[in-house]
Amino acid sequence: MDSKLLSVKIARRTKEALDIVGLEFLPTDLDLLPAFTAGAHIDIHVKSGVVRQYSLCNDPSETNRYQIAVLRDPQSRGGSVAVHDELQEGQVVQISAPRNHFELGNHTHTLLFAGGIGVTPILCMAEALTARDSDFTMHYGARSMDRAAFLNRMAGSSFADRVHLHYDNGPQEQKLDLAKVIGEAPADTHLYVCGPSGFIDAVKNAAANAGWTADRVHYEYFGAAPLDTSNDGSFEVKLARTGSTIRVENDQTVLQALTANGIKIETSCEQGVCGCCLTTVLAGQVDHRDHYLTDEEKAANDQMLVCCSRSKSPTLVLDL
Ligand code: FES
Repeated sequence: MDSKLLSVKIARRTKEALDIVGLEFLPTDLDLLPAFTAGAHIDIHVKSGVVRQYSLCNDPSETNRYQIAVLRDPQSRGGSVAVHDELQEGQVVQISAPRNHFELGNHTHTLLFAGGIGVTPILCMAEALTARDSDFTMHYGARSMDRAAFLNRMAGSSFADRVHLHYDNGPQEQKLDLAKVIGEAPADTHLYVCGPSGFIDAVKNAAANAGWTADRVHYEYFGAAPLDTSNDGSFEVKLARTGSTIRVENDQTVLQALTANGIKIETSCEQGVCGCCLTTVLAGQVDHRDHYLTDEEKAANDQMLVCCSRSKSPTLVLDL
């Protein structure tokens, strides 16, 4: 077994909303689980060959348990369906220690936006901001009330009056007016958003239209639409440390080509959203395809996510 993996027992399985299951994990061979910060996720080894990332949604001050919630999505790669169909109370599963690519900063004012199952890290942030006694407002949008998770938990929390709920099938006055909410926020506000890519893009666009600088806008995509690779060509990757050159075929990712040549790269989502496979680029022109780097970071052309990004130049030189 990978020494970094932890064994945890599924202590509770709950229905959090229509098509959303909640799982609570307790340690099996430790007294406490590794501490985590708001925005962190864990890898769950759902079944053989299926490893998926889910954000932790319990209070980050808790180290006796982890909690996640998973939306059943038959259109996805199969991980969420396996969680719903195969993970039961009492079962022991392997997970990674928490990692955080969506860290909550310290700001005078914070706006939290959650779309659908994107509520998981955002709820964790609401808990953390409450514990810090920091000013925040949370907006949570769902298709309908029966698809909104954790309503009872939020209603019973000490931050209940900071949460605004918006349903697609609700009355017009309940709809989320992003331009208004973002436009009226104090000038030093930072925002955090998680949800479907269309929701995140809408929040990012509203912030850009309101003149917000990119450093005040923090987001985490939890999945990416499949890339259109039909027009991709092949290219070469040179490894600066070993001097070797590896060909990346048109139907291969850089990650696949590196792995096929025995180069081990840490990965997690393999969709360009988690940042795990970030690799330093020393020369060549990257064709960025990820949802992780900011526009400024992409323009700097000095790093890339090898699980999805490619090359615009015949050769890329990587610091490997
Ligand atoms: S493995 Fe997640 S961005 Fe590459």
